[in-house]
Amino acid sequence: MKVLVTGGAGFIGSHTVVDLIENGITPIIVDDFRNSEKFVLKQLEKLCGTKIVSYNIDCCNYEQMEAIFSSEKPDGVIHFAADKSVNESVENPLKYYQNNIGSLVTLLRLIEKHPVKSFVFSSSCTVYGNPDSVPVTELSPIKKAFSPYGFSKQVCEQCLVDFHNSNPKNSIILLRYFNPIGAHPSSLIGELPIGVPNNLIPFITQTAAGVREKVVVFGASYNTNDGTCVRDYIHVCDLAKSHVLALNYALKNPNNIDTFNVGTGKGDSVLEVIKSFEKINSLTLNYEIGPKRAGDAPVVYADNSYIKKKLNWSPKYSLEDALLHSWNWQQTL
Ligand SMILES: NC(=O)c1ccc[n+]([C@@H]2O[C@H](COP(=O)([O-])OP(=O)(O)OC[C@H]3O[C@@H](n4cnc5c(N)ncnc54)[C@H](O)[C@@H]3O)[C@@H](O)[C@H]2O)c1
Repeated sequence: MKVLVTGGAGFIGSHTVVDLIENGITPIIVDDFRNSEKFVLKQLEKLCGTKIVSYNIDCCNYEQMEAIFSSEKPDGVIHFAADKSVNESVENPLKYYQNNIGSLVTLLRLIEKHPVKSFVFSSSCTVYGNPDSVPVTELSPIKKAFSPYGFSKQVCEQCLVDFHNSNPKNSIILLRYFNPIGAHPSSLIGELPIGVPNNLIPFITQTAAGVREKVVVFGASYNTNDGTCVRDYIHVCDLAKSHVLALNYALKNPNNIDTFNVGTGKGDSVLEVIKSFEKINSLTLNYEIGPKRAGDAPVVYADNSYIKKKLNWSPKYSLEDALLHSWNWQQTL
């Protein structure tokens, strides 16, 4: 099987490329490196012991993507490519609508024309907004988005449903990721935020490495055990595995559309993460409690029973494994 992987040089895409190759699937990477580094391709080749085909192309560009579909003839597509900073999306919403929605529409126009059997889309638990109850299931209501980034994912999900209703010839899987963290245990690939990180773990590892002065915890008066926000942190290698399973499920279930939460099913607070990071890596982190951030839901974690049952997926790594791998990776940078 040959699978086009848009955003394959990015954090989740690169770990998925490793898993695809380990499962005998040939990835074709399309990435314009707007939020990744070219050396990731070399690292991937080193890790996988094989050459990897890649195209430095903006996947919103219909003509260039058409040429790739015609020459490579992929059986499936995994669409990671998107801009993902919540804060930036508030400042520059059109960038997010253009890239996140534009790239999806471009790809759907192409899979309509070409014999692509399966399409896997990177969605996010952000579509649940501030949920009424936890854990969230795939049937929990989609709440008003807090940011243009979140709204772009909601629009993309609806695009996929409408596309499928009008043209059910492909099998479409939406994966709603919770909070991906960690790095490959080899320390050859990991998260590479460009500029100031938006997510907690790179902030923690960069602070431990002395790149940042301190971690600011956004609020400690939420209605949680220690007052800090609770999230579902999933090791990126476990998340990567869900894509191969999704592709196989799509092949066994043609003309289908389905949505899966990809999370551990367990919530950890920001302070718990900081304490675990300090303990597993035997170091002390400089952190302080700051004001709450607008739009942060107090508690979000997944009900993952549907993906466990249907895709036979389950997470293998613990929070501690992920924090160890993240720190090992940071030390190589
Ligand atoms: N990391 C998270 O916390 C998280 C959580 C939920 C969902 N997601 C989604 O998962 C996907 C992957 O996230 P990630 O963390 O790996 O992000 P990332 O920024 O590390 O990777 C995205 C990759 O796509 C590339 N890219 C972006 N737009 C492109 C375009 N138009 N053409 C070609 N390449 C393009 C970037 O250069 C980058 O390499 C995204 O769709 C994101 O919204 C991420």
